[in-house]
Amino acid sequence: MSCRPKGAPRRIFLSLLLLTACTQGGGHRAPSDGAAIRPLAPPGVPADSFPAPDRPVARIVTDTWSDEASRDRAGEAEQVIRLLGVRPGMRVADVGAGSGYYTVRLAPRVGAGGQVFAQDIVPRYLEGLQSRVQRERLRNVALALGDPHDPRLPVSSVDLVLLVHMYHEIEQPYGLLYNLRSALRPGARVAVVDLDRPTASHGTPPALLRCEFSRVGYREVAFHPLREGYLAVFAPAGDPARVVLARISACAA
Ligand SMILES: C[S@@+](CC[C@H](N)C(=O)[O-])C[C@H]1O[C@@H](n2cnc3c(N)ncnc32)[C@H](O)[C@@H]1O
Repeated sequence: MSCRPKGAPRRIFLSLLLLTACTQGGGHRAPSDGAAIRPLAPPGVPADSFPAPDRPVARIVTDTWSDEASRDRAGEAEQVIRLLGVRPGMRVADVGAGSGYYTVRLAPRVGAGGQVFAQDIVPRYLEGLQSRVQRERLRNVALALGDPHDPRLPVSSVDLVLLVHMYHEIEQPYGLLYNLRSALRPGARVAVVDLDRPTASHGTPPALLRCEFSRVGYREVAFHPLREGYLAVFAPAGDPARVVLARISACAA
């Protein structure tokens, strides 16, 4: 069965097919053993179209925030998933998924009718997560390789995006948030979990976070203090076409 859009020229369709997992029903499945992990969408706006952040960017040092047993004892994922109202059928992107603490907890929540995109920019982290997904037989998880300024997720594919303990590591936050917008379905939200400390110390002060999101056309819709850190939730504010690239300026820390 073909999912080629009516009227799409064959050559364009075939190139899109190479870049996206075009399956019946529009779902994206986990690649089978040994399959290359790749971006799920063509490149968006290039990195040099955006200002550099005017504050330190933390180095990527590990694929997990802390050990999963202590996170579960603290009820971290349980609380975040409840606060965000994750339910069966939702399409969720775990951007900066690392070793998959959230991915494997989201997959059963969204169920067979839902979808989890486990995205990262470090291929070796995604390879480790691919093995985990296969071991745990999670059929509704698709692995996605991104760029530091562009998550490379399919157009109109997600209801919710999680950025957990990774925002401070994004080399090009304005680019990532701008390019992310094409992946958002109507009503979608973008949720950040982080610590309230300087970005150089692997956290993001909430005022700085709000400023950076607002420069790219998002507004904050909820804020919840957590036992450790916070959960901030954003939604696109109005028409993305109204964000003028040349006018995006960096927020000072
Ligand atoms: C400290 S780990 C957190 C992993 C996971 N979210 C968790 O809560 O355990 C940060 C992750 O963010 C990823 N990362 C950093 N910059 C990124 C970017 N621009 N886009 C996507 N992932 C990124 C890193 O490769 C790393 O896997």
